[in-house]
Amino acid sequence: MNTIDNCKIINLPKIHDPRGNLSFVENGRPVPFVIKRVYWIYDVPGGEVRGGHAYQELQEFFIALSGSFDVVLFDGQNSKTVTLNRSYFGLLVPSMIWRRLENFSTNAVCLILASTLYSEADYLRDFNMFQRTKTKGPDDNN
Ligand code: TYD
Repeated sequence: MNTIDNCKIINLPKIHDPRGNLSFVENGRPVPFVIKRVYWIYDVPGGEVRGGHAYQELQEFFIALSGSFDVVLFDGQNSKTVTLNRSYFGLLVPSMIWRRLENFSTNAVCLILASTLYSEADYLRDFNMFQRTKTKGPDDNN
């Protein structure tokens, strides 16, 4: 089972250039999964919160393309908050981690690289069920 220790900042290549810097990702480099989907969150009103769920299978990689925001992570026991505020690094969040995005700055753009196509069935939106699954494991019916 993944813990918050498996949620890692990964530096991206940065090509310095007086005309403007450039960063990039490719499948597996340095993001450690094949990218099946890309989505982005933007125009977030002050004080709003996104996320607030976990995924059974999906792995994600978050990049602050513009501005900043906090990713609050919880593994059923421990939590940590990671601030993303540069476009040359990102945060890897594996499956079965409860995550919430908050504290968006004005004009923040959050890019998310995802390891699967969209599947509502993969979401765990019930916090208590998530907690129970993390405590007992998915196959434990006792
Ligand atoms: P959701 O993941 O619940 O947003 P958040 O957790 O950031 O608050 O997605 C919000 C809505 O957008 C939901 O109705 C499903 C839809 N959606 C897609 O259709 N495709 C996608 O790739 C994503 C991420 C969401």
